[in-house]
Amino acid sequence: MNFHVLTLFPDMILQGVNTSITGRAIKNGVVSVSAVNIRDYAGNKHMKVDDYPYGGGAGLVMQAAPVCAAYDALAESLGKRPRVVYMTPQGYTFNQKMAQDFAKEEELVILCGHYEGIDERALERIVTDYVSIGDYVLTGGELPAMVVIDAVSRLVPGVLHNSESAETESFENGLLEYPQYTRPEVFEGKRVPEVLLSGHHANVEKWRLEKSIERTKKYRPDLYQAYCERNGIGI
Ligand code: ADE
Repeated sequence: MNFHVLTLFPDMILQGVNTSITGRAIKNGVVSVSAVNIRDYAGNKHMKVDDYPYGGGAGLVMQAAPVCAAYDALAESLGKRPRVVYMTPQGYTFNQKMAQDFAKEEELVILCGHYEGIDERALERIVTDYVSIGDYVLTGGELPAMVVIDAVSRLVPGVLHNSESAETESFENGLLEYPQYTRPEVFEGKRVPEVLLSGHHANVEKWRLEKSIERTKKYRPDLYQAYCERNGIGI
């Protein structure tokens, strides 16, 4: 799968994705990440890509022309016009289902805004998906873009080496993940729960489900309610 990030800070993206599991996936050729510098499409000698908002107000707005030109050039080189995800607090909140949907694309463009956002006319022309990573405002869309690249990449076949781990984690069954333990059996006087040492697979699964439900109920009552509704459990 190929990600193409339209940004004013290409180095931030490339440095961010080049380590850990995404870095390995890139080196193995399973995933590629290219960063297009929107400033290269400024079309003026000062390389200016932003201006004051019509109607007044603080900050600067990224202009439509460089953003559209950057996308058009990319689309031209790819021979198609891929889906464009715009990272913005004014979008649908990113979740695992969206990650699964994006993972089906061969090419995915991610557009990062800065300052007070991007001229609406550029968005209307090229954006297919408006995505927020949560209810807080960041200085730009680069960190959110990296979040999306990370979450989507790990669903691309061949990225995770242990294929099981993409399936059994939080959210795949609508519940938060159960606690995990590794050696030693006793740490600072605290023992690993006995059932995990028992070798009794069914009991281990039962314990994990109980813990998942307990955590979900405490930290994510919204997910817990949906889980109960799906499974016909009365609260
Ligand atoms: N840009 C700034 N804040 C953001 C957020 N919360 N999600 C996505 N893009 C953003």
